[in-house]
Amino acid sequence: MSEFTVPGLSSADGSSVADILQERLSAYNDLHLTLKHVHWNVVGPNFIGVHEMIDPQVELVRGYADDVAERIAALGNSPKGTAGAIERDRTWDDYSVGRDDARAHLAALDLVYTGVITDSRTAIDSVGKIDPITEDMLIGQTAQLEKFQWFVRAHLENSGGSLVHEGASTEQDAANEARQN
Ligand SMILES: [Fe+2]
Repeated sequence: MSEFTVPGLSSADGSSVADILQERLSAYNDLHLTLKHVHWNVVGPNFIGVHEMIDPQVELVRGYADDVAERIAALGNSPKGTAGAIERDRTWDDYSVGRDDARAHLAALDLVYTGVITDSRTAIDSVGKIDPITEDMLIGQTAQLEKFQWFVRAHLENSGGSLVHEGASTEQDAANEARQN
């Protein structure tokens, strides 16, 4: 724990908010790397649309990682931005789809976004009780992530509003469903 934090918080509260933010930092770092992996591995029809749709998401998520890391420092903790920190902090598996078509990647990416957004909403709930400034930052970031998930889902939705990979619980299952439907 540091000797200082932001005004109005105790050092203990600053540190517990920073601990929650460290998990978001590792989640964002994993997400922007995963998005680049998709950018590089997507093939087939719709290649260029998906390839080019991904890069603005990468840029924004990198910016979110930067904002979160700097908030951790402002709160008095040391942000950990290494590959080892991602590996240590994450509670999810490495992205599992390699060279594949656009729909397979997008269906898998939909599950990735669901995981990140669900955890961000939990973090918003936790920090909101202690630090509304951090809560506000996470709310703004999560709103954009939810918009990106809609971009992804719009490729996989039929006119009835159903997703082709409805109910899939793993990236591989989602990718298989999307390839077949
Ligand atoms: Fe590129």
